[in-house]
Amino acid sequence: MKSARASAPGKLMLLGEHAVVYGHPCLVTAVDIRYSAAVTPLDKSTPAIHIHRAESSAARVIPLNELGQLSEPETAFVEAVVKRVHQQRTIATSLRIETDGPAISYGLGSSSAVTVAAAAALNESLDLGFGNRELFDLCFEAVLDVQGKASGFDVAAAIYGGTLYFSERGEVITPLDVPSLPIVIGYSGAKVGTVSLVEKVAQLHSRQPFMVESIFELVHRLTDDGRYALEQKAWAELGDLFNIQQGLLDALGVSTLPLSRLIEAARSAGAWGAKLSGAGGGDCMVALAEPDSVEAIRRAIHDAGGEIVEYASNASGVRIESSAT
Ligand code: MEV
Repeated sequence: MKSARASAPGKLMLLGEHAVVYGHPCLVTAVDIRYSAAVTPLDKSTPAIHIHRAESSAARVIPLNELGQLSEPETAFVEAVVKRVHQQRTIATSLRIETDGPAISYGLGSSSAVTVAAAAALNESLDLGFGNRELFDLCFEAVLDVQGKASGFDVAAAIYGGTLYFSERGEVITPLDVPSLPIVIGYSGAKVGTVSLVEKVAQLHSRQPFMVESIFELVHRLTDDGRYALEQKAWAELGDLFNIQQGLLDALGVSTLPLSRLIEAARSAGAWGAKLSGAGGGDCMVALAEPDSVEAIRRAIHDAGGEIVEYASNASGVRIESSAT
Protein backbone atom coordinates (compact mmCIF):
# COMPACT_ATOMS: atom_id res chain seq x y z
CA MET A 1 0.00 0.00 0.00
CA LYS A 2 1.32 3.43 -0.92
CA SER A 3 0.25 6.99 -1.69
CA ALA A 4 -0.46 7.64 -5.35
CA ARG A 5 -1.70 10.50 -7.50
CA ALA A 6 -3.10 10.11 -11.02
CA SER A 7 -4.39 12.60 -13.57
CA ALA A 8 -6.76 12.20 -16.53
CA PRO A 9 -7.81 14.50 -19.39
CA GLY A 10 -11.20 15.87 -20.40
CA LYS A 11 -12.81 15.22 -23.79
CA LEU A 12 -14.24 16.97 -26.81
CA MET A 13 -16.79 15.16 -28.97
CA LEU A 14 -16.06 15.59 -32.67
CA LEU A 15 -18.94 13.61 -34.22
CA GLY A 16 -21.63 11.19 -33.03
CA GLU A 17 -23.11 12.70 -29.85
CA HIS A 18 -26.48 11.37 -28.65
CA ALA A 19 -26.53 8.54 -31.24
CA VAL A 20 -23.54 7.08 -29.34
CA VAL A 21 -25.76 6.52 -26.28
CA TYR A 22 -27.72 4.04 -28.46
CA GLY A 23 -24.62 2.07 -29.47
CA HIS A 24 -23.69 4.03 -32.62
CA PRO A 25 -20.09 5.23 -33.06
CA CYS A 26 -18.53 8.57 -32.20
CA LEU A 27 -15.22 10.36 -32.71
CA VAL A 28 -13.73 11.94 -29.62
CA THR A 29 -10.47 13.69 -28.82
CA ALA A 30 -8.97 14.00 -25.32
CA VAL A 31 -8.46 17.60 -24.20
CA ASP A 32 -5.60 18.70 -22.00
CA ILE A 33 -7.78 20.02 -19.17
CA ARG A 34 -6.55 17.61 -16.48
CA TYR A 35 -8.22 16.42 -13.29
CA SER A 36 -6.37 14.55 -10.58
CA ALA A 37 -7.02 12.28 -7.63
CA ALA A 38 -4.58 11.47 -4.83
CA VAL A 39 -5.07 8.38 -2.65
CA THR A 40 -3.39 8.14 0.76
CA PRO A 41 -3.85 5.16 3.13
CA LEU A 42 -5.08 6.23 6.59
CA ASP A 43 -4.62 4.54 9.91
CA LYS A 44 -8.24 4.40 11.25
CA SER A 45 -10.09 1.64 13.07
CA THR A 46 -13.31 1.75 10.95
CA PRO A 47 -12.47 1.38 7.23
CA ALA A 48 -13.89 4.41 5.41
CA ILE A 49 -13.09 6.72 2.53
CA HIS A 50 -12.49 10.38 3.27
CA ILE A 51 -13.20 12.39 0.10
CA HIS A 52 -11.80 15.94 -0.14
CA ARG A 53 -11.65 18.66 -2.78
CA ALA A 54 -8.12 20.07 -2.90
CA GLU A 55 -9.16 23.61 -1.95
CA SER A 56 -11.30 22.55 1.03
CA SER A 57 -10.47 21.03 4.39
CA ALA A 58 -14.01 19.58 4.70
CA ALA A 59 -14.21 15.85 4.01
CA ARG A 60 -17.08 13.55 3.24
CA VAL A 61 -16.48 10.37 5.24
CA ILE A 62 -18.24 7.21 4.04
CA PRO A 63 -17.70 3.85 5.81
CA LEU A 64 -16.76 1.20 3.22
CA ASN A 65 -19.81 -0.91 4.10
CA GLU A 66 -22.12 2.06 3.39
CA LEU A 67 -20.81 2.98 -0.06
CA GLY A 68 -23.27 3.49 -2.90
CA GLN A 69 -25.93 5.91 -1.68
CA LEU A 70 -24.47 8.57 -4.00
CA SER A 71 -26.46 11.26 -2.26
CA GLU A 72 -23.90 14.08 -2.68
CA PRO A 73 -23.38 15.20 -6.32
CA GLU A 74 -19.93 16.62 -5.42
CA THR A 75 -18.56 13.23 -4.36
CA ALA A 76 -20.87 10.76 -6.13
CA PHE A 77 -18.47 9.75 -8.94
CA VAL A 78 -15.57 9.03 -6.56
CA GLU A 79 -17.87 7.15 -4.18
CA ALA A 80 -19.30 5.09 -7.07
CA VAL A 81 -15.90 4.11 -8.41
CA VAL A 82 -14.56 3.14 -4.96
CA LYS A 83 -17.66 0.98 -4.53
CA ARG A 84 -17.04 -0.74 -7.88
CA VAL A 85 -13.39 -1.36 -6.97
CA HIS A 86 -14.37 -2.61 -3.50
CA GLN A 87 -16.81 -5.11 -5.08
CA GLN A 88 -13.98 -6.59 -7.15
CA ARG A 89 -11.08 -6.44 -4.66
CA THR A 90 -12.11 -5.91 -1.06
CA ILE A 91 -10.53 -2.73 0.30
CA ALA A 92 -9.56 -3.37 3.92
CA THR A 93 -8.18 0.00 4.94
CA SER A 94 -9.26 3.62 5.26
CA LEU A 95 -8.27 5.93 2.42
CA ARG A 96 -8.09 9.67 1.92
CA ILE A 97 -8.98 10.62 -1.66
CA GLU A 98 -8.32 14.20 -2.70
CA THR A 99 -9.55 15.41 -6.08
CA ASP A 100 -8.35 18.51 -7.90
CA GLY A 101 -8.89 20.28 -11.20
CA PRO A 102 -9.64 23.61 -12.88
CA ALA A 103 -12.54 25.56 -11.36
CA ILE A 104 -14.33 25.91 -14.74
CA SER A 105 -14.70 22.67 -16.69
CA TYR A 106 -16.51 24.06 -19.81
CA GLY A 107 -18.47 20.79 -20.00
CA LEU A 108 -15.32 19.01 -21.17
CA GLY A 109 -15.79 15.85 -19.14
CA SER A 110 -14.72 16.66 -15.58
CA SER A 111 -16.84 13.87 -14.01
CA SER A 112 -15.40 11.09 -16.15
CA ALA A 113 -11.86 12.47 -15.78
CA VAL A 114 -12.16 12.56 -11.96
CA THR A 115 -13.66 9.04 -11.94
CA VAL A 116 -10.80 7.69 -14.06
CA ALA A 117 -8.11 9.54 -12.06
CA ALA A 118 -9.55 8.12 -8.81
CA ALA A 119 -9.66 4.57 -10.21
CA ALA A 120 -6.09 4.82 -11.52
CA ALA A 121 -4.79 6.22 -8.20
CA LEU A 122 -6.53 3.38 -6.29
CA ASN A 123 -5.10 0.86 -8.77
CA GLU A 124 -1.59 2.17 -8.10
CA SER A 125 -1.98 2.70 -4.35
CA LEU A 126 -3.45 -0.75 -3.63
CA ASP A 127 -1.46 -2.51 -6.37
CA LEU A 128 -4.63 -3.96 -7.92
CA GLY A 129 -3.11 -4.71 -11.34
CA PHE A 130 -6.02 -3.41 -13.45
CA GLY A 131 -5.22 -2.77 -17.11
CA ASN A 132 -6.92 -0.15 -19.28
CA ARG A 133 -9.79 -2.44 -20.29
CA GLU A 134 -10.63 -3.26 -16.66
CA LEU A 135 -10.33 0.40 -15.70
CA PHE A 136 -12.76 1.27 -18.51
CA ASP A 137 -15.34 -1.32 -17.38
CA LEU A 138 -15.10 -0.24 -13.72
CA CYS A 139 -15.32 3.48 -14.47
CA PHE A 140 -18.13 3.12 -17.02
CA GLU A 141 -20.17 1.13 -14.48
CA ALA A 142 -19.50 3.84 -11.87
CA VAL A 143 -20.64 6.59 -14.28
CA LEU A 144 -23.81 4.60 -15.06
CA ASP A 145 -24.42 4.17 -11.31
CA VAL A 146 -24.47 7.96 -10.97
CA GLN A 147 -26.03 9.07 -14.28
CA GLY A 148 -28.25 6.16 -15.29
CA LYS A 149 -27.67 6.76 -19.01
CA ALA A 150 -24.35 7.36 -20.77
CA SER A 151 -22.28 5.93 -23.60
CA GLY A 152 -18.88 5.72 -21.87
CA PHE A 153 -17.04 7.62 -24.64
CA ASP A 154 -15.80 10.22 -22.15
CA VAL A 155 -14.42 7.49 -19.87
CA ALA A 156 -12.57 6.00 -22.86
CA ALA A 157 -11.09 9.41 -23.76
CA ALA A 158 -9.91 9.91 -20.15
CA ILE A 159 -8.23 6.48 -20.08
CA TYR A 160 -6.74 6.12 -23.56
CA GLY A 161 -6.26 9.80 -24.52
CA GLY A 162 -5.50 10.82 -28.12
CA THR A 163 -8.31 10.72 -30.66
CA LEU A 164 -10.61 7.67 -30.65
CA TYR A 165 -13.24 5.93 -32.72
CA PHE A 166 -15.62 4.60 -30.04
CA SER A 167 -18.57 2.31 -30.72
CA GLU A 168 -21.01 -0.21 -29.21
CA ARG A 169 -20.79 1.35 -25.78
CA GLY A 170 -17.09 0.59 -25.52
CA GLU A 171 -16.90 -2.81 -27.24
CA VAL A 172 -14.88 -0.97 -29.89
CA ILE A 173 -12.28 1.60 -28.78
CA THR A 174 -9.86 2.32 -31.62
CA PRO A 175 -7.07 4.92 -31.24
CA LEU A 176 -6.68 6.93 -34.46
CA ASP A 177 -3.34 8.05 -35.81
CA VAL A 178 -4.14 11.71 -36.41
CA PRO A 179 -2.07 14.88 -36.09
CA SER A 180 -3.05 17.73 -33.79
CA LEU A 181 -6.48 18.85 -34.92
CA PRO A 182 -7.09 22.22 -36.62
CA ILE A 183 -9.91 23.20 -34.29
CA VAL A 184 -11.12 26.24 -32.38
CA ILE A 185 -13.30 25.59 -29.30
CA GLY A 186 -15.83 28.20 -28.15
CA TYR A 187 -17.77 28.14 -24.89
CA SER A 188 -21.36 29.40 -25.05
CA GLY A 189 -22.14 29.31 -21.32
CA ALA A 190 -23.26 26.74 -18.75
CA LYS A 191 -25.97 24.26 -19.57
CA VAL A 192 -28.53 22.12 -17.78
CA GLY A 193 -27.10 18.66 -17.01
CA THR A 194 -26.20 16.10 -19.69
CA VAL A 195 -28.65 13.61 -18.18
CA SER A 196 -31.66 15.84 -18.83
CA LEU A 197 -30.57 16.40 -22.48
CA VAL A 198 -30.11 12.64 -22.98
CA GLU A 199 -33.59 12.24 -21.45
CA LYS A 200 -35.02 14.90 -23.80
CA VAL A 201 -33.72 12.96 -26.81
CA ALA A 202 -35.06 9.70 -25.29
CA GLN A 203 -38.52 11.26 -25.04
CA LEU A 204 -38.40 12.44 -28.66
CA HIS A 205 -37.23 8.92 -29.58
CA SER A 206 -40.25 7.38 -27.89
CA ARG A 207 -42.64 9.87 -29.59
CA GLN A 208 -40.95 9.69 -33.01
CA PRO A 209 -39.07 6.38 -33.13
CA PHE A 210 -38.76 6.18 -36.93
CA MET A 211 -37.55 9.78 -37.32
CA VAL A 212 -35.03 9.60 -34.47
CA GLU A 213 -33.74 6.16 -35.53
CA SER A 214 -33.28 7.57 -39.05
CA ILE A 215 -31.31 10.53 -37.65
CA PHE A 216 -29.14 8.11 -35.63
CA GLU A 217 -28.49 6.04 -38.78
CA LEU A 218 -27.33 9.19 -40.58
CA VAL A 219 -25.14 10.17 -37.62
CA HIS A 220 -23.65 6.65 -37.70
CA ARG A 221 -22.87 6.99 -41.38
CA LEU A 222 -21.39 10.47 -41.11
CA THR A 223 -19.25 9.42 -38.13
CA ASP A 224 -17.79 6.53 -40.15
CA ASP A 225 -17.17 8.91 -43.07
CA GLY A 226 -15.73 11.42 -40.59
CA ARG A 227 -13.24 8.86 -39.32
CA TYR A 228 -12.01 8.34 -42.87
CA ALA A 229 -11.84 12.11 -43.51
CA LEU A 230 -9.92 12.61 -40.25
CA GLU A 231 -7.41 9.89 -41.11
CA GLN A 232 -6.96 11.38 -44.61
CA LYS A 233 -6.75 14.95 -43.19
CA ALA A 234 -9.59 15.80 -45.60
CA TRP A 235 -10.58 18.84 -43.53
CA ALA A 236 -13.08 20.37 -45.99
CA GLU A 237 -14.97 17.07 -46.13
CA LEU A 238 -14.88 16.73 -42.35
CA GLY A 239 -16.19 20.31 -42.15
CA ASP A 240 -19.21 19.33 -44.29
CA LEU A 241 -19.89 16.46 -41.90
CA PHE A 242 -19.65 18.82 -38.90
CA ASN A 243 -22.26 21.09 -40.53
CA ILE A 244 -24.58 18.19 -41.36
CA GLN A 245 -24.40 16.79 -37.84
CA GLN A 246 -25.17 20.24 -36.42
CA GLY A 247 -28.37 20.23 -38.50
CA LEU A 248 -29.28 16.82 -37.11
CA LEU A 249 -28.56 17.89 -33.52
CA ASP A 250 -30.82 20.87 -34.13
CA ALA A 251 -33.49 18.43 -35.31
CA LEU A 252 -33.07 16.48 -32.06
CA GLY A 253 -33.75 19.72 -30.18
CA VAL A 254 -30.45 20.07 -28.32
CA SER A 255 -28.92 23.16 -29.94
CA THR A 256 -29.50 26.64 -28.49
CA LEU A 257 -29.50 30.18 -29.81
CA PRO A 258 -26.14 31.08 -28.18
CA LEU A 259 -24.56 27.92 -29.68
CA SER A 260 -26.07 28.66 -33.10
CA ARG A 261 -24.71 32.23 -32.96
CA LEU A 262 -21.16 31.00 -32.31
CA ILE A 263 -21.45 28.30 -34.98
CA GLU A 264 -22.74 30.74 -37.62
CA ALA A 265 -20.06 33.29 -36.67
CA ALA A 266 -17.32 30.66 -37.12
CA ARG A 267 -18.70 29.56 -40.50
CA SER A 268 -19.01 33.17 -41.72
CA ALA A 269 -15.39 33.78 -40.70
CA GLY A 270 -14.21 30.92 -42.94
CA ALA A 271 -14.44 27.71 -40.88
CA TRP A 272 -14.59 24.49 -42.91
CA GLY A 273 -17.46 23.50 -40.60
CA ALA A 274 -18.79 24.02 -37.07
CA LYS A 275 -21.10 22.26 -34.66
CA LEU A 276 -21.98 21.98 -31.01
CA SER A 277 -19.91 19.42 -29.10
CA GLY A 278 -21.34 17.17 -26.41
CA ALA A 279 -24.87 17.02 -25.09
CA GLY A 280 -25.89 20.51 -26.33
CA GLY A 281 -28.09 22.89 -24.37
CA GLY A 282 -25.02 25.14 -23.88
CA ASP A 283 -21.32 24.42 -23.18
CA CYS A 284 -18.97 24.18 -26.17
CA MET A 285 -19.00 24.38 -29.95
CA VAL A 286 -16.12 23.34 -32.16
CA ALA A 287 -15.04 24.80 -35.50
CA LEU A 288 -12.67 23.21 -38.01
CA ALA A 289 -10.43 26.09 -38.88
CA GLU A 290 -8.26 26.60 -41.94
CA PRO A 291 -4.91 27.97 -40.62
CA ASP A 292 -5.31 31.28 -42.48
CA SER A 293 -8.73 31.81 -40.92
CA VAL A 294 -7.95 30.84 -37.31
CA GLU A 295 -7.57 34.38 -36.02
CA ALA A 296 -10.72 35.60 -37.81
CA ILE A 297 -12.69 32.61 -36.47
CA ARG A 298 -11.51 33.18 -32.91
CA ARG A 299 -12.46 36.86 -33.14
CA ALA A 300 -15.86 36.05 -34.67
CA ILE A 301 -16.68 33.53 -31.90
CA HIS A 302 -15.60 36.05 -29.28
CA ASP A 303 -17.64 38.88 -30.88
CA ALA A 304 -20.70 36.59 -30.99
CA GLY A 305 -20.51 36.23 -27.19
CA GLY A 306 -18.35 33.11 -26.86
CA GLU A 307 -15.26 32.43 -24.79
CA ILE A 308 -12.33 30.77 -26.58
CA VAL A 309 -11.24 27.59 -24.78
CA GLU A 310 -7.47 27.25 -25.07
CA TYR A 311 -6.88 23.61 -24.05
CA ALA A 312 -5.07 21.44 -26.63
CA SER A 313 -6.72 18.41 -28.25
CA ASN A 314 -5.25 14.88 -28.74
CA ALA A 315 -4.03 14.98 -25.11
CA SER A 316 -2.42 11.99 -23.38
CA GLY A 317 -4.60 9.64 -21.36
CA VAL A 318 -4.60 8.78 -17.67
CA ARG A 319 -1.19 8.69 -16.01
CA ILE A 320 0.34 8.19 -12.59
CA GLU A 321 1.84 11.51 -11.48
CA SER A 322 3.45 10.27 -8.27
CA SER A 323 3.68 7.12 -6.20
CA ALA A 324 5.48 6.66 -2.87
CA THR A 325 5.49 4.15 0.00
C1 MEV B 1 -22.36 14.16 -23.90
O1 MEV B 1 -21.09 14.77 -23.88
C2 MEV B 1 -22.52 13.26 -25.09
C3 MEV B 1 -23.79 12.42 -25.09
O2 MEV B 1 -23.73 11.61 -26.28
C4 MEV B 1 -23.92 11.56 -23.86
C5 MEV B 1 -22.97 10.37 -23.82
O3 MEV B 1 -22.47 9.94 -24.85
O4 MEV B 1 -22.75 9.82 -22.71
C6 MEV B 1 -25.01 13.31 -25.21
